[in-house]
Amino acid sequence: MSKIVTIERFILDHQPDYARGEFTNLLYDIALAAKVIAHKTNRAGLVDILGRAGATNIQGEVQQKLDVFADDIIFRICDHTGRLCVMASEEREEIIPIPEPYKKGSYVLVYDPLDGSSNIDVNVSIGTIFGIYRCRNWEHRGQLEDVLQSARNLVAAGYVLYGSSTMLVYTTGQGVHGFTLDPELGEFLLSHEGMHLPEVPAYYSVNSAYFERWSPQVQKYVLWLQGREHSDAPKMSSRYIGSLVADFHRNLMRGGIFCYPPEKDKPQGKIRLLYEAGPLAYLVEQAGGYASDGRQSILDIEPTQLHQRTPFFIGNRSLVYRAERFIEQEIDLPGDG
Ligand code: AHG
Ligand code: MN
Ligand code: MN
Repeated sequence: MSKIVTIERFILDHQPDYARGEFTNLLYDIALAAKVIAHKTNRAGLVDILGRAGATNIQGEVQQKLDVFADDIIFRICDHTGRLCVMASEEREEIIPIPEPYKKGSYVLVYDPLDGSSNIDVNVSIGTIFGIYRCRNWEHRGQLEDVLQSARNLVAAGYVLYGSSTMLVYTTGQGVHGFTLDPELGEFLLSHEGMHLPEVPAYYSVNSAYFERWSPQVQKYVLWLQGREHSDAPKMSSRYIGSLVADFHRNLMRGGIFCYPPEKDKPQGKIRLLYEAGPLAYLVEQAGGYASDGRQSILDIEPTQLHQRTPFFIGNRSLVYRAERFIEQEIDLPGDG
């Protein structure tokens, strides 16, 4: 019989040397927020029956949209614990200082509370992404400089996938581990220890509706992924959900690449560096993969703005390196002479 390991047990047994209770408990807090959001997500379709977002419910409270709800839950679970000096959320314009009179802690939390929001209303998988940094400046309550750190400085990162089951996947720099929520027990149980990208990739994921908006080099790269024009790419199938967490998770399990390239009118693409690209880039390296903006590792980008976006290529190392080579114009499709 296999062992049953709860996320609490696993975090305790594998906490990094520097982790005192503060860091370990912060991971528990995120797991708790994930359970609350999962519960709400499962009831999202009932909003139409029980009252619409923006309408007033029976207690006289205004119904919140799921992304606002998720943002608020993470904030309210983490603001008063004394473990954080500051937070930043994709849903809020400014950094979120830890309010007085709460004690300030040593960590910084960045998060995309609800990823894949266009999928909420159509009952398709969505997610949450998070990253944890150490506070840079011990003297003040958290400031912008504590949040604007490159993803290389992350001490933990992960995501929650609200799919056919709810999974929490995280790394503290010692491998990537996945936990599946048992809804009856209300516990995350270890289900995927030491996740690693398979060597042979199965899928490429890109929104090909934007083909005309890409540079000729990106177009050639995607044709290469598709196996066209004498491409020597591994044979892959295409999958694109439109929820980064879900697309990324599938590719992590089966091997592959997710791309959100720059576009003519959106030279930075769509994916946010701090809340989406950075945490997943840190995690994918722990699973044997690599993430790039097409020219350099995502981990090396020094953010200058809270909501800055970045072109994004993430997945099997060999596929992402090949994207960099196409973009640097070092290579062409074999048929191009
Ligand atoms: P969010 O819902 O947090 O704003 O993120 C949506 C992102 C990402 O999850 C997904 O990969 C991408 O948007 C899909 O964009 P397109 O519809 O342009 O393909
Ligand atoms: Mn997102
Ligand atoms: Mn979001």
